Amino acid sequence: MRTIDWKNERIVLIDQTLLPGTFKVVDIDTVDELIDAIKRLAVRGAPALGVAGALGVALAARNGDDVPAAADKLSKARPTAVNLSWGVNQVLAKLDQGTDAMVETAKHILEGDVRRHSDLGRRGAQWLVDNVGPRINVHTHCNAGALACVEWGTALGVVRALQERDALGHVYLDETRPLLQGARLTAWELRQMGVEHTVVVDSAGATVLARGLVQAVLVGADRIAANGDVVNKIGTYPLALAAARANVPFLVAAPESTVDMATPDGASVEIEIRDAAEVLGDHTPDGSAALNFAFDVTPADLVTAIITDERIIDAKPLG
Ligand code: MRU
Repeated sequence: MRTIDWKNERIVLIDQTLLPGTFKVVDIDTVDELIDAIKRLAVRGAPALGVAGALGVALAARNGDDVPAAADKLSKARPTAVNLSWGVNQVLAKLDQGTDAMVETAKHILEGDVRRHSDLGRRGAQWLVDNVGPRINVHTHCNAGALACVEWGTALGVVRALQERDALGHVYLDETRPLLQGARLTAWELRQMGVEHTVVVDSAGATVLARGLVQAVLVGADRIAANGDVVNKIGTYPLALAAARANVPFLVAAPESTVDMATPDGASVEIEIRDAAEVLGDHTPDGSAALNFAFDVTPADLVTAIITDERIIDAKPLG
């Protein structure tokens, strides 16, 4: 089952808020329903958001909506992952050619996602085998798997490709507070794949690295700035600092659509700040405040290499 798909002239997607307990596929008939699904993270992860943006504009055209207005609303549903507005703009560019052209472009982006990420995964696995060794334990953060794309995954696509060539050891994954995309979604995917894995709390990442339990850190990205700064789920930056201290390669796996040459550096990226209620609850006293950053910026000098569907960008030589 694909994370997101186009069937019978509408969007279908897995509601990721219910995993791992419940596997439910929802039909999306309107752009407002899609925006709601994006905001509540029923569909999430940068490449999946790119596909959602593209299919959303096609849906607006099919429904006879004001397409530019719908495209604008969709682009603004979440601010940080550049893929969302990338997907929206790819389809909006066909506005003059009519609805069928817009639907075809969206479907092309959907199908392309699968091929792009399997290429990326194999390239990443090859890099690791060449530069790190024949059997590799990996640390990952958040969910950069099939659920964040259409079918294959970025960082977890590399894990999948390592498994294919029998080069994968153990996977450690951060639970990824506050919404637990690691503990809920990555652990669920690794179970499906039959990969041995261990969930650790986010603050244990440095200890996993310091104890030599992994030979590489592999994460996805929501936006890569022109200077190589990487914006990804909150908690990625401390993991990169710990990896540098432990002299463990820190790899970023992302499609070319995540590379944003129009953004000079990480400091220029709008970081989504989500509702404090996602952090506060019965475990915090009444009246406490929370600042719920959803993403952070890893400076380029902490990134060993960026693996895309087209190339490997060596940001920093291995020490
Ligand atoms: O808030 P989310 O779940 O959309 O954040 C997702 C991430 O940060 C992923 O690591 C990133 O989108 C890369 S997914 C291939």
